[in-house]
Amino acid sequence: MNDPHALPAVAPLFNGGQPSYETGALRLALGLASDKPFNLGALLSDRLCVQGHGDRLALVWENHSGLRKDFTFDDLRRYSDVWAATLADLGIVAGDRVCLFLDRVPDLYFAFLGILKLGAVAQPLFSQFMADALEVRLADADTRAVITTARHVEKVRSARVRLPGLSWVILTDVKPGAAPVLGKGETAINAETAPPRAFTPLAANDDTPSLLHYTSGTTGRPKGAQHVHGSVLSQFATTRHVLDLRPEDVYWCTADPGWVTGTSYGIIGPWAVGATQAVFEAGFSAPRWYEFIARHRVTVFYTAPTAIRMLMKAPPPAAEQLVSLRHMCSVGEPLNPAAVLWAERVMGRPFYDTYWQTETGAIMIANVPGLPIKPGSMGKPVPGIEAAILDAQTHQPVTKPGAPGLLAFRPPWPSMFRGYFKAEQTYQSKFVGAYYLTGDRGSVDSDGYYWFVGRDDDVINTAGHLVGPFEVESALLRHPAVAESAAVSKPDPTFGEVVKSFIVLRPGYAGSDELRLDIMNFVRKHLSPLAMPHAIDFVDKLPKTRSGKILRRMLRAQEWGEPVGDLSSLDD
Ligand code: PRX
Repeated sequence: MNDPHALPAVAPLFNGGQPSYETGALRLALGLASDKPFNLGALLSDRLCVQGHGDRLALVWENHSGLRKDFTFDDLRRYSDVWAATLADLGIVAGDRVCLFLDRVPDLYFAFLGILKLGAVAQPLFSQFMADALEVRLADADTRAVITTARHVEKVRSARVRLPGLSWVILTDVKPGAAPVLGKGETAINAETAPPRAFTPLAANDDTPSLLHYTSGTTGRPKGAQHVHGSVLSQFATTRHVLDLRPEDVYWCTADPGWVTGTSYGIIGPWAVGATQAVFEAGFSAPRWYEFIARHRVTVFYTAPTAIRMLMKAPPPAAEQLVSLRHMCSVGEPLNPAAVLWAERVMGRPFYDTYWQTETGAIMIANVPGLPIKPGSMGKPVPGIEAAILDAQTHQPVTKPGAPGLLAFRPPWPSMFRGYFKAEQTYQSKFVGAYYLTGDRGSVDSDGYYWFVGRDDDVINTAGHLVGPFEVESALLRHPAVAESAAVSKPDPTFGEVVKSFIVLRPGYAGSDELRLDIMNFVRKHLSPLAMPHAIDFVDKLPKTRSGKILRRMLRAQEWGEPVGDLSSLDD
């Protein structure tokens, strides 16, 4: 299909004509000498100032009540220096994990850059996580400090009781002059009112740890994917080539920096390019989103299919609200062909789907300007990335067009994760032969377009957020009525998938709607609203293999109306 809204082919990114992910060329474009150290935090702030762009808008921030604040690249430089210097005063050193447990407030961005300048490791966590989810991730990372606000500090305090390694809880919203109600090991930093501090950023290299992003798997606890300063090469290249972002753009990424999209493309990519970012610290509302695009003249928009489906259900925008938009991309879940076509009709241009993962650090497969879109396809591997569909048994590339198999990539690439924190074996298990296995299934057609088929594991992708069944089941087991449980995905017209639980009750409990609600709330309050089961079936027993493993696969297939598959190991 020809794409009537295709943008002109991207102008050559780098010296050589064809867009290139050759690292030497990327370094040149970023002004990095190949043999010299650099620092990602400084690259995203100080570098722009040195280049004479200090007065340009870096961040236009607005919150739910209409408060607006603008920050230049020079502001980013100053406030991140304050963060870096103050964290150093507190005894935080290079390599320490510092958690950002914040809504999308300006300090999240300043502190993020400051942590990188110091050489510490930023550990962003979604602020909607409740105490249990928080504690597991802070314990795993052996986190030294948590940066948060009054709104979330109680969750940190309750988790902290069992976290002896956590030296500091830092609040960002204690008003200057107010008597702060700070407990032991708590302090307050206000970068905007603090006197400027000079700070020399750590001389890092490509492999210096930068970020630890927690992601969920089928079994066990969430895993911390370790990223490095050198990841910026991939993020810069894809921000230019896929998101088509230029310094003169106003860019809006709706993802929260608690998730990888919100850091790779909500902080690193756009500021590496030198573009202005608009950030809306507010929940979803179609009319307010359209107003936000109009008010800030957003030119490039990056969001997720769940949000697009919610826009589709709402009244359409007024034509003049979207005149500034010139490019829109999507990530995180399968993008329905209907959503691509709706956007063309109602928003004036299609969404370009992009595929990647926490582990890959940057976009791997994408629809890019100039490439005709096949609605429903994720597009083609980006330059420099070699993708393959592997046979599930032999792990050899499948050669028949359209045949499903395991989606894999051939490492390395600059933003490739360098390990799961303290989980070397799990990390190794992601590689077979020459390939990194994504855990997804897909196919590739005769034109080289990739299509998403489904996950190859039991992880639930709800509204673009991965939820591990093990974490939900562990939370459910802490409820007094629950003897056994299984959590699987169930299709949902808006969220793509939601969590559904099958529960065997303890003796003395009877299934009722009231108990259902109580259990749902229990998960919401202890783990997170995302992990809350939207449906619960009370059952007498769960299907298990002869060795006692719960057959989630069978329960899931039932929910999706798919064939249940081989049940020869079922214990009956
Ligand atoms: O299953 C794929 C799905 O989201 C997973 C990665 O989730 P996460 O690590 O949280 O990162 C999310 C944003 C980068 C993938 O393994 N996924 C991501 N993009 C797509 C997708 N599924 C279908 N289509 C996509 N475009």
